[in-house]
Parts: sequence; C-alpha cells; structure tokens
Amino acid sequence: MGANILGSAALFGALIAFGACGRTPSSAEDPKPSPKAEGAPRWTIGMSQCNLGEPWRVQMNRDIEEAAKAHPEIRVVFKDAQNDSLRQRSQIEEYVEAGADLIIVSPKEAAPLTAPVAAAHAAGIPVIVLDRRVLGDAFTCFIGADNKRIGRAAGEWIVRRLGGKGKVVELKGLMTSTPGQDRNSGFREGIRGSALEIVFEADMKWLEPDARREMESALARFPNIDLVYAHNDPGAHGAYLAARAAGREKKILFVGIDGLPHEGQVYVRQGLLEASFEYPTGGREAVETALKILSGETIPKEITLASRVFTRENAASGGEWLKLP
Ligand code: FRU
Repeated sequence: MGANILGSAALFGALIAFGACGRTPSSAEDPKPSPKAEGAPRWTIGMSQCNLGEPWRVQMNRDIEEAAKAHPEIRVVFKDAQNDSLRQRSQIEEYVEAGADLIIVSPKEAAPLTAPVAAAHAAGIPVIVLDRRVLGDAFTCFIGADNKRIGRAAGEWIVRRLGGKGKVVELKGLMTSTPGQDRNSGFREGIRGSALEIVFEADMKWLEPDARREMESALARFPNIDLVYAHNDPGAHGAYLAARAAGREKKILFVGIDGLPHEGQVYVRQGLLEASFEYPTGGREAVETALKILSGETIPKEITLASRVFTRENAASGGEWLKLP
C-alpha cells in the first residue's frame, strides 16, 4: 500500500515535470503527446544531465535544445541531477514510468547508473548514453569523444612542449567516471618512455574549487613544478588561480581539456592555458541519433566524436584536429 502511494507520487511528479516543459499532457494517464493533435510533438525525449554547475554541461543542454528546435516532431524534457548519482538514477526511473519515447543520459558515474539504464533498455525504451559511460552494453547507443586518445595526445603534446623532461602535476577528473579513468590512462601512455615525472596527482572531481585546493597543496610541497595537466579546463583554471595567488603562475604551464569557445579557447588566447584539448558535447549528434532511432533506422552502437587541440599558435585559426589512433 505504502509502496503504491509512493509509486503513484513519483509518477505524478514525473508527469508534472513532463507537462511543465512546454506541453500539457492530454490527460494525467497519458504522458505522451498525442500523435494526432495538430502541431503536437510525436515523441517525448527525457534527458538527464548529471549537473548544470559546469559550463560544459550547460553547453550540452543548449546544443540539444538548439538541434531539437528544427524538429517539431520531438519535445525534449530536461532534468538536472545536481551531481548526485542517486538522484540521476531516480530521474531515469521517472522517465520510464512517465512513458518517455527515448532517454538521453549523461551519467555522473558509471557503476551507479548502469542498472537504471539497463532497466530502461529492458523495458523497451531506447537509451542514448552521452559523454560518460555506464558499464556493460545494456543501452542503445553511446556517443562521446575518445578520452583515451585525448589523454594520449595531451601526453605526447606535453612531452614535446617540455622537451622530454620535467615535473608535472596531474589533476584528475572524478575517477569513478570513465573520462577521468581514460584521460589518466591515455596520458600515462602518451608520456611513457619520456623523463617526465608526475610529482603530484589528485582527484579534483572535475571541480574548479577542488583543483585550486589540490594545487595549493602541490605548490606547498614542490618548489619546482613545470606543468599542470588537468582533466578539464575548470581544473586547469583552478590550478592557474592557485599558482597566481602564490606568484608562481609564470613559471608553470597549464594544459586542460574541453576547449569550449567561451571557456578553454578564451583561456588559451589569453595565455592562461598553454593548450586545451576539445571535448565536444555531442548534443547535436544525440538529437540526430535519437531521431534515427525513433524513425526505426539502424544506428551504430557507438559514435566517436572527433576532437581538436587549441594552442596559442592555432587557437585563432580554429585549432588542429587530433589524428586517429
Ligand atoms: C563537466 C565535465 C567536463 C568534462 C566532462 C567529462 O561535468 O567535467 O568538464 O570534460 O564532464 O565527463
């Protein structure tokens, strides 16, 4: 009985959330737009974003919204998991209960999101996993850039930039998320055989304030640091701010990942970062793929997005594409 009450409350909440984003459901029992209603979208896509505290994720949602605008047959409903895996898990369950036609999820962490994604998939709802992965293969399609390749390219670039040797700080993204793991292992491959020394490494969880704090510890312990490799641009910027506060920013190079036009690329042009490796959001590709799935087309299990490096030399002319592995 109690479970029923909770269940219907969750369903009600999900219906309200669907209705609040531009469309009133024709009845409380029918969360889907009616295909017959004139001008009404035919399909509802539920998107669960792991957080909106970082510019890159705001951009991803914007890219999805922008791409969806050209397609009146779909309506996208967004939920923000506020960097909480349990909340994100519930959001996926809510979309399933509310009868979404397709789910797009950009998961916070791999392990906790694997079961709800697999359950949605088993319930017959196509799921596109965007940017960070889940475990296994119980989903419809994964879209993202190759983080291992980006990490390796960053490593090789850094070896060249430092002339093969130097003291490096690695500020890692959340290591329970796959981009953090891949940007770390790819980087280690890229620097293998060089005389680069990782003097300090820490998990800054993708967050600028954490990166700044970790960098303060690194600065306090190591009088000589040549370069900081951060797994994202907010992390590199946090490290730069810590170094600047210690009066050491001019002696250290900073390299990040994301390369957003209004974030990493600006930092590079301003000379704060030495390089930023692009990590495309995949928002547009997710919408294009969703439309194909909903129209019954066959799509690949995995779509790998290309990526560029922006440096001081090439940032003004659009960066340079990374070579395929
Ligand atoms: C934003 C972010 C990006 C990073 C991506 C990895 O949450 O940290 O900066 O490239 O997630 O999933």
